[in-house]
Amino acid sequence: MQWRCSKNAALVVVVVVMMMAMVAAIPPLCMAQADDIEGVVVLEDDGSLHINSSSVGKVYIDGEDVVAELQATRKFIAALTSTPAQHIQLANPEVTVLFDGSGLVMSDKKLASFSFGFVPFFNNSINLANNQLTSIDFNQITHVGGGIDLSHNHLTVIDFGNITSVSSIYLNYNDLTSVNFGQIAGDAGDINLSHNDLTTIDFGHITSVRSISFDSNKFTSIGFGQIISVGGDIDLHYDYNNVHLTSVDFGNITRVGGDILLFTNDLTSVDFGKIASVGGDIDFRNNYHLTSVDFGQITNVGGKIRLTSTDLTSVDFGQILSVGGDIEVYHTYTSNNLISIDFGNITRVDGSIKLYDNDLTSVDFGQITHVISIDLHNNPLTSVDCANVGFSGCLCVDAGVTLTNCRRLCTSSNCAH
Ligand SMILES: *[C@@H]1O[C@H](CO)[C@@H](O)[C@H](O)[C@H]1NC(C)=O
Ligand SMILES: *[C@@H]1O[C@H](CO)[C@@H](O)[C@H](O)[C@H]1NC(C)=O
Ligand SMILES: *[C@@H]1O[C@H](CO)[C@@H](O)[C@H](O)[C@H]1NC(C)=O
Ligand SMILES: *[C@@H]1O[C@H](CO)[C@@H](O)[C@H](O)[C@H]1NC(C)=O
Ligand SMILES: *[C@@H]1O[C@H](CO)[C@@H](O)[C@H](O)[C@H]1NC(C)=O
Ligand SMILES: *[C@@H]1O[C@H](CO)[C@@H](O)[C@H](O)[C@H]1NC(C)=O
Repeated sequence: MQWRCSKNAALVVVVVVMMMAMVAAIPPLCMAQADDIEGVVVLEDDGSLHINSSSVGKVYIDGEDVVAELQATRKFIAALTSTPAQHIQLANPEVTVLFDGSGLVMSDKKLASFSFGFVPFFNNSINLANNQLTSIDFNQITHVGGGIDLSHNHLTVIDFGNITSVSSIYLNYNDLTSVNFGQIAGDAGDINLSHNDLTTIDFGHITSVRSISFDSNKFTSIGFGQIISVGGDIDLHYDYNNVHLTSVDFGNITRVGGDILLFTNDLTSVDFGKIASVGGDIDFRNNYHLTSVDFGQITNVGGKIRLTSTDLTSVDFGQILSVGGDIEVYHTYTSNNLISIDFGNITRVDGSIKLYDNDLTSVDFGQITHVISIDLHNNPLTSVDCANVGFSGCLCVDAGVTLTNCRRLCTSSNCAH
């Protein structure tokens, strides 16, 4: 058996066979060592590369029996090329695809489009970053073992087709206005969407992510669909997103490993839904029209809670048991409207509680036994009972407030005592 090279459409297609074990020695052009293979690589008039084989032999490319695939589909658009050794040509025949078995590396090739032809899956990663892609056709690919890097291209739309699993997705620096993750299900690793023009996103069947980068987009609202767990931050603060967010739907999320940063937006209400724990900070400061916050099922906040410069009149910490940093509900410009605060189940605040410049007439510290300092100055309080509160810092109040069980008083200029 032998390989023939066929000249078709006046173009010579160069063939080198990469055999099963992909042994070091690459045969000369248009020749094969295999005894049982007869195949022809043809460049069809439409520009696609095909392997034609009439034999029962096998040609393996990255573990795939391409001849069998050819027989099944008639058009497995993948072929072997001579240079550099062990790199094959796949899909777009006019370009050399560097495919060394560890993944597809086709970055910085000025590609305007890319098609995967009839490749059924990639066990490793796909790197098409830094091209000029306006379209990509994943066609039949169902599984990508590694990440898909399409960053720094010109994509305005993306269709993940039949892909159901992938370990990371990089779409940063494209021209996307919307993203739909289609059939991708389960864990999607790191998703980077930064520097696009996104206004909508459909996470489809994705249930967890290690991180999501949203910066420099145009979201006015966002929902997280079926996502249950976010390993890192949810960061959509104004300077990062570039547009004021008016609504957020945490949907099915039960855990956020990092921060939830939504400061300087135009949110009027926030419902944390099913979120039970937040590893870092919760920061909703400078949402000037925010009138309601429902902490839902959150029991632990690893960092601080910042609700400064909002329009909240009351805050109820719901089921929160501990806060790793400060609780800040003061107003930075004019007097805040806060008239009631309910610490609920909080027993421990590993920072300070800052409620100054509000309209509080009374404060009940509830079950808090541990806090650094509490600052209540510039509130119309008449009395404060420190009961079981254990301060490692001090309490700051205005002159004339009657104090009970309060032993550690601040001496700074804001504090009368
Ligand atoms: C490839 O195979 C197809 C189907 O067997 C045939 O129609 C076509 O002519 C072949 N092309 C070449 C260049 O042999
Ligand atoms: C690629 O992954 C598929 C599905 O997980 C597996 O069946 C196949 O053996 C893998 N192929 C190689 C060459 O690793
Ligand atoms: C998905 O695969 C099926 C065949 O399994 C094919 O008919 C369909 O066109 C593919 N979808 C896309 C978007 O390529
Ligand atoms: C996402 O992409 C941006 C811009 O390229 C980069 O600065 C950021 O580090 C990336 N995020 C992650 C988590 O890799
Ligand atoms: C939560 O996930 C279910 C499917 O598991 C979906 O039907 C529902 O719409 C999701 N909730 C939200 C708020 O997106
Ligand atoms: C929180 O406090 C309420 C009463 O204010 C109580 O019914 C509930 O069991 C407490 N939850 C936890 C987790 O301690």
